[in-house]
Amino acid sequence: MKDSAIEIDETICLCLQVSESTIRSCIESNNLTTIEEVTQACEAGGGCHSCHILIDLFIDEYLKKSTPIETLVTAHAGKVKKRGILGRFFKKFTADVPVTK
Ligand code: FES
Repeated sequence: MKDSAIEIDETICLCLQVSESTIRSCIESNNLTTIEEVTQACEAGGGCHSCHILIDLFIDEYLKKSTPIETLVTAHAGKVKKRGILGRFFKKFTADVPVTK
């Protein structure tokens, strides 16, 4: 698990009550590279899809990719129905994800 990531293990997928540590652990231990694989492994992302942007961010961190935040937002913003999730987490993760302009 990434040392900078988890100070408080918050619930990322509110629909299925899956925590950040569970999702990250699933990604790492199963070498998961897609949201669909994560959903199959731990159910996160299987409901309203609001958490897909964060699951993608965790996969990116695991793969040491640096997809620009704008790209993630463009890909997932339409799915976000529970916007409270993003406000909390983007402050935490944007510092770790370089933004390319
Ligand atoms: S918050 Fe994860 S599917 Fe709804």
